[in-house]
Amino acid sequence: MGRYDEVFQRSIHDPEGFWGEAAEAIHWYKKWDRVLDDSNRPFYRWFAGGELNTCYNALARHVEGGRADQVALIYDSPVTGTIRKFTYKELLDQVSRFAGALKGLGVGKGDTVIIYMPMVPQAAMAMLACARLGAIHSVVFGGFAPHELAIRIDDAKPKVIVSASCGIEVKKIIEYKSMLNKAIELAEHKPKACVILQRPQAKAEMISGRDFDWDELTAKAEPAACIPVKASDPLYILYTSGTTGKPKGIVRDNGGHAVALRWSLENIYDTKPGEVYWAASDVGWVVGHSYIVYGPLLTGCTTILYEGKPVGTPAPGAFWRVISEHDVKTLFTAPTAFRAIKRDDPQGEFLKKYDLSRFKYLFLAGERLDPDTYHWAHNLLHKPVIDHWWQTETGWPITANCVGIEPFPIKPGSSTKPVPGFDVQILDSNGAVLGPTQEGLVVVKLPLPPGTLPTLWQADERFLQSYMKIFPGYYFTSDGGFRDEDGYVYIMGRVDDVINVAGHRLSTGEMEEILAQHADVAECAVFAVHDSLKGQVPLGLAVLKAGARKDDAQLKKELVQMIREKIGPIACFNEATVVGRLPKTRSGKILRGTMRKIADGEPYTIPSTIDDPAILGEIEEALKKVGYAHKK
Ligand code: COA
Ligand code: AMP
Repeated sequence: MGRYDEVFQRSIHDPEGFWGEAAEAIHWYKKWDRVLDDSNRPFYRWFAGGELNTCYNALARHVEGGRADQVALIYDSPVTGTIRKFTYKELLDQVSRFAGALKGLGVGKGDTVIIYMPMVPQAAMAMLACARLGAIHSVVFGGFAPHELAIRIDDAKPKVIVSASCGIEVKKIIEYKSMLNKAIELAEHKPKACVILQRPQAKAEMISGRDFDWDELTAKAEPAACIPVKASDPLYILYTSGTTGKPKGIVRDNGGHAVALRWSLENIYDTKPGEVYWAASDVGWVVGHSYIVYGPLLTGCTTILYEGKPVGTPAPGAFWRVISEHDVKTLFTAPTAFRAIKRDDPQGEFLKKYDLSRFKYLFLAGERLDPDTYHWAHNLLHKPVIDHWWQTETGWPITANCVGIEPFPIKPGSSTKPVPGFDVQILDSNGAVLGPTQEGLVVVKLPLPPGTLPTLWQADERFLQSYMKIFPGYYFTSDGGFRDEDGYVYIMGRVDDVINVAGHRLSTGEMEEILAQHADVAECAVFAVHDSLKGQVPLGLAVLKAGARKDDAQLKKELVQMIREKIGPIACFNEATVVGRLPKTRSGKILRGTMRKIADGEPYTIPSTIDDPAILGEIEEALKKVGYAHKK
């Protein structure tokens, strides 16, 4: 038995022994009573009875342990021309002061705080400051429109919102503060206070009595101490797209999260204390939570917070510059970023300018890694290019090539093997376990390992319905896939209405709910079509109400604008067209999957349940008019 098999088998057959040992790497104020409390299945609780503080483990512990002068965080911002390094001591000082500022605004254990910020170090500081106080943060990605922020404000009911005057998208200034004002106007719940980081690129007007300046407030705040919390207390809520307009509030606990992330850095990413880890993502996504902020800091690594893009800030060599300038050992990003670099620098000319000799691994996730991108990256870098699969729900990888345990040969198209702790199975739609090479629904046998979602924020029943009741005894991932004869897992894509645009998770169901509000739309369907850069982009088809007289171009403009306004530019919804009718099953279900195949020019079979097969021809014609449905 190889090393990986040994570790994996132990994690499944003796989870308490396995994770109990891993938990020794974390500082506890009080040790747990039970490693795994399974008395209320499927609501499992890890390290029940234990008490810790995540911020203490991420900062003060390293300062006390000899890393005070090691760089903890490098803020690299080509869009503002800034590189700023914070040692563990400096970061601890800033975080405890900001925690003091939040405390002064009445934030304490169990309170919620929304963080709506661009990629500035203060975003990470705000997260850690909440953790320090035992408050629960909820970071909302800056590309979301006020309407989306308002939905999250009403669900999380924050006491305080932390934001900034603006973000910078390549050269565009995005005024966060005006979007925040609008969101608060739209929301029913009103925060008690907002803390605003004033950036020189655009100063925001402050509302007296509600808005506080980050710098002023922090300057006069007393540093706040760490508050011990229960292992099962929430550290954060992160909203992610479900199949409807109401996002799911994924809850992350303190104890399991700290243990799992600390373990993952060395065992999955082969990255040790003192080494430099860079996740080129955004703090608004789970990757940013786990691998810009918590994972590297819990491990005593140096993390990089990059405010820029893979291309255009200023060139497709941006990633190579950051890697060589900061001695990055491990880079984690989305395949889209590499497709963008490939598009702008297909021969990899920019790479020649930089020394990447200390760079060891490229990890990719967030969407399927297509073999073309894999081969391009591998041939260019001559380093392991590792696909790994995970979800906001799990918080860390479900399948990966665990190079810190035992590296496996790479098979392009596969995210390698289940990570220890995740008992991955493939089921058919009736719940029967499928054998090798048989494609089906991917599930994880319960219990899930530490660090994964214990529930949804104040929505236990939705948690059960969405993940636990479909196949009792298993967590349903909503992804389809298979395993090969060697146990390698292949993830083929979502089986629900969630799509992936440039590694960003979006709900077509939500888009349909928005488009249906247009006065001329009788019904509509949104599905994902292939995009050579972003992997997928949404496309809308609308059936007009009788008597509606909008011309196609005008209607498209209005529908595109509706999605930009309600969800945000990040939805990349740029194409919509009118059709006479939509193909449905006899029971009325819209055949989105079949339309996607037609749009992408893929072969498809006419579903036996279809109401009227002739509609498919009409759809094909309509899609051809907007540049789709050309056979491959
Ligand atoms: N705040 C405000 N707006 C944002 C934003 C943010 N944080 N991030 C993106 N947007 C806006 C963009 O300005 C753009 O708006 P526009 O339509 O008005 O031009 C829109 O959202 C789409 O942005 P994006 O998806 O970034 O597309 P792009 O064409 O500008 O760039 C890539 C393409 C590939 C360079 C970019 O998608 C990218 O860097 N992808 C990597 C993805 C990633 O890191 N995913 C994280 C998961 S691990
Ligand atoms: P998110 O919650 O935003 O991380 O999105 C999770 C979804 O992204 C998964 O359910 C998958 O559909 C997709 N995904 C993430 N990583 C991969 C991967 N390596 N391969 C294929 N799909 C992936």
